[in-house]
Amino acid sequence: MSEKRLAVVTGATGGLGVAMCQALCDQGRTVVGTYYPDPQQEQQARQWQESMEQQGYSVHVRPLDVTDYDACAVFAADVEAELGPIDVLVNNAGITRDAPIKRMEPHFWQDVINTNLTSMYNLCRAVFDGMCQRGFGRIVNISSLNGEKGQFGQCNYAAAKAGVYGFTRSIAQEGARKGVTVNAVSPGYIDTPMVRQVPENILEGIIAGIPVGRLGQPDDIARAVAFLAADEAGFITGTNLSVNGGQYMS
Ligand code: CAA
Repeated sequence: MSEKRLAVVTGATGGLGVAMCQALCDQGRTVVGTYYPDPQQEQQARQWQESMEQQGYSVHVRPLDVTDYDACAVFAADVEAELGPIDVLVNNAGITRDAPIKRMEPHFWQDVINTNLTSMYNLCRAVFDGMCQRGFGRIVNISSLNGEKGQFGQCNYAAAKAGVYGFTRSIAQEGARKGVTVNAVSPGYIDTPMVRQVPENILEGIIAGIPVGRLGQPDDIARAVAFLAADEAGFITGTNLSVNGGQYMS
């Protein structure tokens, strides 16, 4: 690998984000993890930073509301001024607001679209041109199994996550000749706090439908992200890597 590159992971304190940050550190990146600016996530972020540093990893944490276009621009400019150019961006921040459409309130819809899809535009807009000018970039957008197949109670989430594919393929074409790859990773049901919110009886049914017979682990997703974020992955762009235990095969 060439020089130590800088990677940004959004939603870094969540179940998947922590594992992704670790995998990118293992790959030799300097990692900046972002968290939603609330006291609980700030505390988690500080604990995470301390434990990573004790293990010898170089990580930075920053508060960032990924739904705020201007805040994303300021964040990227500040990080680049302080730490250097952003070479790798993992758009991981995401939320669920599950309800059947008959109870899908406008703010459930809007919050999920803003956090899970518009956020990707906000951050890519802030870093993409710089990556193109420097001739190197790796963008990994976290979609979902449920963006591929739909899910009862998740029309907002599935719509946002399906939107990630069109977004990814479009800017993959824009970056292709500039050394910038853009790909999606679609986790299935992974053992994280988000999935543990699903009522137990429903989750049991979901697990029964996973051919490998269990939930995935955060490391399963982190490995896929690191694979696509590698310097050596320059010929893989505009694709989707499904990591779902065989639950959906396309
Ligand atoms: N298919 C068909 N019918 C279903 C169904 C399904 N998958 N799930 C529920 N139903 C039926 C129920 O049997 C029930 O039928 P009756 O009215 O005839 O009894 C009816 O729909 C209402 O269902 P609920 O009582 O469950 O409705 P609710 O409002 O209490 O709950 C819900 C709705 C919150 C969406 C709940 O169904 C739920 O939590 N589902 C799981 C959603 C899910 O998988 N979320 C994933 C979160 S993790 C994640 O998103 C990460 C990732 O990327 C994979």
